[in-house]
Amino acid sequence: MKKVIISPSILSADFANLERDIKSVETAGADWLHIDVMDGHFVPNITIGVPVVSSINKVTELPLDVHLMIENPDKYIEAFAKAGADILTFHIESNADVKSTIDLIKSFNIKAGLSIKPDTPAETVFPYLSDLDLVLVMTVEPGFGGQKFMPRCAEKIQIIRKNASKDLIIQVDGGINAETARICTFYGANSLVAGNYIYKSENIKSAIESLL
Ligand code: DX5
Ligand code: ZN
Repeated sequence: MKKVIISPSILSADFANLERDIKSVETAGADWLHIDVMDGHFVPNITIGVPVVSSINKVTELPLDVHLMIENPDKYIEAFAKAGADILTFHIESNADVKSTIDLIKSFNIKAGLSIKPDTPAETVFPYLSDLDLVLVMTVEPGFGGQKFMPRCAEKIQIIRKNASKDLIIQVDGGINAETARICTFYGANSLVAGNYIYKSENIKSAIESLL
């Protein structure tokens, strides 16, 4: 596996030109494609649903890294898995039964991820580490792209890394740029999500390379 998995967030893409903007990160060397699903309840924003994920799956070879910022994630796991999600990450702060939702995701032979918001302690994921493929540490309040990285969240990466097997993917999402990426990889993150930094750059390839 590559040392750091780069997962551009299409939340910062032009939704009227989504295929073009997906190809642009694919040809520039992205590893995964990060898709932010928001329901207007768990977070104060509404974005993408199952039909869009299914359409995206038809136009890219990139693994689809789907970040569910929704209540009742278990209700939608099967639909997102069938739409082509390769990684399904849900929030520990949602109303899901964590263990059974992880098991449900894994029953579709895809990767299961659990995410924590900025105020949620790292230790809350410990009981699930042996079942998980990925932990997503949010470094902004979920809901919107283009926010500023919260440095106080970064030490949670180190706490989780120290307690996890070396195979666990620790992903960071929110305010990632060349500078904040260094902080996260130093603490042990091996997957970085970036929306604004990649999509608003003059040169997408150099932006992606600058995160490595
Ligand atoms: C925020 C989303 C992020 C967002 C990141 O709730 O989960 O994936 O797109 O955007 P940037 O990289 O611009 O902070
Ligand atoms: Zn995200």
